[in-house]
Amino acid sequence: MAYAHITGWGMFVPEKILTNDDLSKMVDTNDEWIRSRTGIRERRIANEEQSSASLATEAAIRALDVANLKPTELDLIIVSSSSPEHIFPSTASLVQDRIGATKAGAFDLSAACTGFIYALDMGAQAIRSGSVRNVLVVGTETLSRFVDWTDRNTCILFGDGSGAFVLQADEKPGGVLSSVLHSDGSGGDLLTLPAGGSRFPATTATVQDGLHFIQMDGKGVFRFATRVMARATKEALEKAGLGLEDLDLVVPHQANMRIIDAAARGLKLPMEKFMVNLDRYGNTSTASIPIATVEAFEGGRLKAGDTVVFVGFGAGLTWGALAAEWSGPRPVERRVRHGWYLLFARVRSMILRVMRIIEGMLWGRFGR
Ligand code: COA
Repeated sequence: MAYAHITGWGMFVPEKILTNDDLSKMVDTNDEWIRSRTGIRERRIANEEQSSASLATEAAIRALDVANLKPTELDLIIVSSSSPEHIFPSTASLVQDRIGATKAGAFDLSAACTGFIYALDMGAQAIRSGSVRNVLVVGTETLSRFVDWTDRNTCILFGDGSGAFVLQADEKPGGVLSSVLHSDGSGGDLLTLPAGGSRFPATTATVQDGLHFIQMDGKGVFRFATRVMARATKEALEKAGLGLEDLDLVVPHQANMRIIDAAARGLKLPMEKFMVNLDRYGNTSTASIPIATVEAFEGGRLKAGDTVVFVGFGAGLTWGALAAEWSGPRPVERRVRHGWYLLFARVRSMILRVMRIIEGMLWGRFGR
């Protein structure tokens, strides 16, 4: 039987920082209010050239570098996002082309802020089934594009960023141990981006009514989140045959410090067991868990053999948790030079586009 080990991880956030003081010049708020109610001090905002796919590509390359895996060896790419580039094509296919993952299948997954846990689980299941060996899982967001910058209830919360894991099959036990995924669509109206889909396609009226912006019942989401975080963490541990005493680190969705505090109290665990970096990035939705994991590893809080639980919640409503044994970096014999692969990917993509143009011309002349 194959186990799905986390062998690579990477993150990328835009350079531009938006502080609470900056926000206080845009809406009626202040640093003290935002910090005391959310724990957030600043967040990153994508520039005009950056997009969910470009952030995802950067995080993916970093994760492949840690795993020392060639993009051509990937079998599957799953991109979780609530701010995909388009309804279609999928952001995953754009990433596949940009990194030169020549033989990988690619699809997007939509489960809001819980998306990375869903995507990790899907990737791990595909490995366990024996159908694939190398999977890239990315969480990526540019939610700043969907935030109403005049709405102080929501614009203080979100930030842009991307995080990625590489999952690889190994016969050695470890890696992803268990997961629990939940949904309650009856709470869909608590956090929604109403227009732009097939229910309310873009019209002048939907734009005028601001239906292309995030709408949220903050208190409702807060109550839901504090209910499910501790419970899902326990469920995932139980399913893996583990107890709270086995837990080395919890990497929770980075939405609000008070929600993480409530989870810690619910589990009767000290805050040291929780990775928190929302003060610097705000809520990056599905990207928050991989970004926090990368920083936990780099800060020495996650070592090979550690038991870690990723736990999240979000729109849908969705929530879930995944328990894993942290595999740590694999020994490297010869470094893969990802710069060359990126160049190859760019040239390949260009040749494929040109060939499609030539094919179209020939088809017009000789085809029926
Ligand atoms: N700055 C200053 N005042 C603000 C404000 C802001 N940015 N936003 C709201 N307020 C005001 C409200 O208007 C309200 O004023 P009132 O009492 O005069 O009506 C007061 O502050 C309290 O608002 P309330 O909504 O009760 O605050 P809260 O303690 O519930 O905190 C959230 C609001 C949004 C921070 C909190 O509900 C939350 O974090 N919810 C979860 C949201 C979330 O995580 N979403 C993403 C899920 S993935």
